[in-house]
Formats: sequence, structure tokens, C-alpha cells
Amino acid sequence: MSAEPLEIHLEEQDLARGLREDVRVGLTAEPKWLPPKWFYDARGSELFEEITRLPEYYPTRAERVVLAARAPAIAELTAAKTLIELGSGSSEKTRLLLDALTDRGGLGTFVPLDVSASALRGSTARIASDYPGLRVRGIVGDFTRHLDRLPAGGRRLVLFLGGTIGNLLPAERAAFLAGMRAALESGDWLLIGTDLVKDPSIIVPAYDDAAGVTAEFNRNVLRVINRELGADFDPSAFTHVVRWDATHEWIEMRLRADRPMRVRIPDLDLEVAFAEGEELRTEVSAKFRREGLAAELSAAGFAGRTFWTDPDELFGVTLARAV
Ligand code: AVJ
Repeated sequence: MSAEPLEIHLEEQDLARGLREDVRVGLTAEPKWLPPKWFYDARGSELFEEITRLPEYYPTRAERVVLAARAPAIAELTAAKTLIELGSGSSEKTRLLLDALTDRGGLGTFVPLDVSASALRGSTARIASDYPGLRVRGIVGDFTRHLDRLPAGGRRLVLFLGGTIGNLLPAERAAFLAGMRAALESGDWLLIGTDLVKDPSIIVPAYDDAAGVTAEFNRNVLRVINRELGADFDPSAFTHVVRWDATHEWIEMRLRADRPMRVRIPDLDLEVAFAEGEELRTEVSAKFRREGLAAELSAAGFAGRTFWTDPDELFGVTLARAV
């Protein structure tokens, strides 16, 4: 079957309004911050794909090892009829689950949800042509806002892979999991990929690679703001900074101003001053412990958890069931 037309719950103007609001709030805050979702324009998405192939960036490979080993068990346990993927991007790792679920039989529909209509158009067309007989319904939406738009119907399996849940702060994460539970019926399944707490000497280089790809990815958010809001950031005047926060057990990426700067953002009628050495936080990437995640899932109304990891225990994949 060919992919169905995309269901659009997020228009270009909603995205543009969201960016303006986030930039206004974040760059007038003390300390300054920006949400990581604005990294991912076409160039940012390409840079992220490049990151996933870096020797230092283990999460993608480790998650793939887990999924390759466990996809048949996941297909057996869930017997899913509908596979939903949040923040699907290019949907590549999803194929391991699509293969296992179609081999088992009974999978009817694949529903990728992503903020990027262009990424979805490409991936839904490829998946529809590679899985004949599968109904492919792409949804343009934001997983923090549009969970209530997911198609209803029994035996759903929702994928939230890559460790993306780590980009949410603890309160956002609790709200996300509660919203996810509310969108599901009891008996539906949730499969979450999480990077695990480990020695920072392994984690930090994954965010501070020798080739400088992550630094470019980090500075890309400034280019997005320049293009979308007419700002005059000089990205080359910001240094990529990575910190391991041992208290929260998360990575922070920041951009440090190399010199004092005044940045004009005409579309917001705003001028933002940076002191020399001032840091702008651009991403939090939380790392998880098995028990901590289990407790968060229980609090949100999920049970029946199975936890798998790769042989090096770098990355965890948790299967939970809505109660
Ligand atoms: C896509 C959010 C899982 O946090 O590891 C990669 C993004 N940031 N390198 C992560 C990212 C810097 C990535 N996630």
C-alpha cells in the first residue's frame, strides 16, 4: 500500500510561533537556555545522523544491538496490531520491530509521529513500499502536545527510542508519561530506550567528539535562530561546552560566548547581551538507572516491565504495559 496522506496537527505557523516563544523565554532568562528540539532543521538532522556514526557516540549502536536481539521477543509479548513511533525521524531502527512484527503476523498499521513533515514524507513512502500490506499513517505533531491524536484501537505498541526521553526535564518527563498513559488503553504497550548512568569518561566524549561534529550540531541552533528570526548570532564566537551533572545524572550541552556580544533578534524586537564567558544551555540529556525508570513508569500507570540491555550495559530498553 502507498502511505496515506499525512495527518497534520502542527502547521508551519505553530512551529514558528513555538520557536519565537521559546527563544524569547529562554534568552531573557537567567541563566539563558534553549530547548533542544530546535537543533533539528535539515542540517541539524543531518549532523545528528553523522553523530550516530561517530566512534564516541555509543547510544545508537548499543540500542540497535538490544533491538536486534529482542525484537522477536517484543513481537511475541506484545502481539501488536498497531505500531506507533514518537519522534520517528528517519524510522531506521524501527525496521527491526516492523520486521519482527510482520514476521509474527498481525501487524496492520504503522503510525510515525514527528514534527517534521518533510522527514515523515520520505520515511512513510519508503516504509510503505518496503512493507506491502502495511497501512502507513504519518502524523505531523509534537509528542509533548499531540498524544491525544494517536489512532485508537487495541494492542498498540508505542516506541520512544534513541534516549530522546532524556531531553525532558524530570517534571516534563512525568507529564509526558502521564499523558502517554492517558492516551493508551489498558493492555497497550510502551517501549522506551534510555541511555544508562555509567562512568562519565564514557558519556562525556559521546557529546564532545574529537571530530567536532557535536560542536557543529550544538551551534546549529544559532543558525536556525538567525534564519528563522533574522537574528545576527555569530556561531563561530561560541564554544561547545559539555558538562556531566553528577547530582542530576545528566549531560548538559552549552554554548559559551568567547567575547562580550550583543545579538539582535529583529523578529522578536529583542536585543540580547552576552558577557564574555557566559553560557547558554542548549540541551539536557538525562541518563537513567533501571530502578529509577521503573518507579517513574509505575507512578504514571505502567506495569509489567521487561528491561533489556546490550552486553556492555550502555543502553537500556524497557517494555512497559499500561495498567
Ligand atoms: C537524540 C536526544 C537522544 O541526547 O544523546 C546527541 C541528541 N545531543 N548529541 C542525545 C544529542 C548531542 C541525543 N538524543
